[in-house]
Amino acid sequence: MPVISIAIQKGGSGKTTTALNLGAALCREGKKVLLIDADPQANLSQSLGIEDEPAFNLYSELKKEILQEGGQLSKAIVSTPQGLDVVPASIDLAIVELEMAGLMGREYLISELLNPVVDRYDYVFIDCPHSISLLTVNALVASDYVMLPLPGEFLPLKGVYGFMRQFDTIRKKLNPRLELMGMVMTKYDERKQMNVGVKKQLEEKFDGKVFQTVIRTNIQLAKAQEAGKDIFSFDRSANGAKDYRRLADELMQRAHQEVLPQVRVA
Ligand SMILES: Nc1ncnc2c1ncn2[C@@H]1O[C@H](COP(=O)(O)OP(=O)(O)OP(=O)(O)O)[C@@H](O)[C@H]1O
Ligand SMILES: [Mg+2]
Repeated sequence: MPVISIAIQKGGSGKTTTALNLGAALCREGKKVLLIDADPQANLSQSLGIEDEPAFNLYSELKKEILQEGGQLSKAIVSTPQGLDVVPASIDLAIVELEMAGLMGREYLISELLNPVVDRYDYVFIDCPHSISLLTVNALVASDYVMLPLPGEFLPLKGVYGFMRQFDTIRKKLNPRLELMGMVMTKYDERKQMNVGVKKQLEEKFDGKVFQTVIRTNIQLAKAQEAGKDIFSFDRSANGAKDYRRLADELMQRAHQEVLPQVRVA
């Protein structure tokens, strides 16, 4: 706990980069972290050096749930040498949406798979696809929080409003405990007026919900992903490593402030 979806319906925003490197930063702080790759593109799995599709993956277990054969997420968990646990994706996730479409309770499949393993972890991150699809809905239904990575050059407000409408519907109809953890600016360059302006605009609209930490544009982040590594294993002195370490610290503070009162009430 907590379960955090990383989502926004815009490709190339930094969702996978954030899941990978924020997860890796928390892992280096001694936290037990599970990353779930819920995108048929399987970029997160590849970025962790998982090249071949393992026999057990998110799709194989979702398929068993659909067939009522008892999917088990624990079977699909791969542990990386750096100490991260990962549930890899599979290209078949692209068709799972069709397979689950007519099913009663189709929005709860990831949640059901996650329930038996969630207590083993300090943080669970779900890397979502760039569409608000049934897979994203499943991820949001299974989550306590959602984090939105937003590149500063993307005119984000429209996309964010579109996402927030979906978020409200999911809260009302499917998962009332879902909270907006925050928005984090990615591919940020403080010399670019547009980047600074977009951040300011978001801070005005979503008071207290924009992370103070920004993730600067850093080519090492892209190179690390290509090499199948997190930024700390690839180049720990890179700006990308500094920024994700800072983001991890800020997230731990927020989780501490926001999650603890809920625990006390329970
Ligand atoms: N801060 C950054 N600086 C430089 N390059 C970055 C940064 N963040 C991400 N990238 C690169 O931008 C590309 C897109 O990032 P990423 O894959 O994380 O986006 P995404 O939101 O997961 O995309 P998709 O919606 O397709 O899944 C990748 O090549 C990644 O390495
Ligand atoms: Mg991605």
